[in-house]
Amino acid sequence: MPVVVLISGTGTNLQALIDAIAAGEVRARIAAVISNRPGAGGLERARRAGIPTHVLDHTGYPDRAAFDAALAAAIDSHQPGLVVLAGFMRILTPGFVEHYAGRMINIHPSLLPDFRGLNTHERALRAGVKEHGASVHFVNNELDGGPVIMQARVPVRSDDTPQTLAARVQQREHRLYPRVVGLLADGHLKLQGGEVWFDGTPL
Ligand code: GRF
Repeated sequence: MPVVVLISGTGTNLQALIDAIAAGEVRARIAAVISNRPGAGGLERARRAGIPTHVLDHTGYPDRAAFDAALAAAIDSHQPGLVVLAGFMRILTPGFVEHYAGRMINIHPSLLPDFRGLNTHERALRAGVKEHGASVHFVNNELDGGPVIMQARVPVRSDDTPQTLAARVQQREHRLYPRVVGLLADGHLKLQGGEVWFDGTPL
């Protein structure tokens, strides 16, 4: 299945997907990587893997709608079966989200519905939770609010800093995200009536 990956940053989740595909663990092909930041480290990871890249610098567009229209055109030129947000730091317009309903996923560094939004590790530590983690979800119009597909849990240690906790969560993200992409690419997972279905039954 052709997949388009959207990034804004270092792209360690992108790298995990590249590696899982190369290892034959995920039957998908990354058709393109698109970044809204010209300096995103993930672009270099894509180039090294021979994956076509596009840079659409959002600061060069008059408004969100114009940026999203250009982004959708770039994505659709690759006719992907799945759009994978991997550290893509832009809020998307409702029309854009609608266009990719059921075929766009995101990874968020918390056990959703807890800690939507930014600075999740800091907030988890401040809240004193014993467990933290990452969630993969379908994207809908609620920020980090779409139906959750799968989660990875990690313990929170008493001496954790936001950095040590982030590192523990990220390690698990790198296993979780390729696994979910593989299940979607193989047709095991679907969004139906706002619910996640696995092999023909709601989860
Ligand atoms: C990850 O922690 C992911 O959960 C969040 O953004 C971060 C992206 O990291 N959405 P990277 O660019 O994949 O290294």
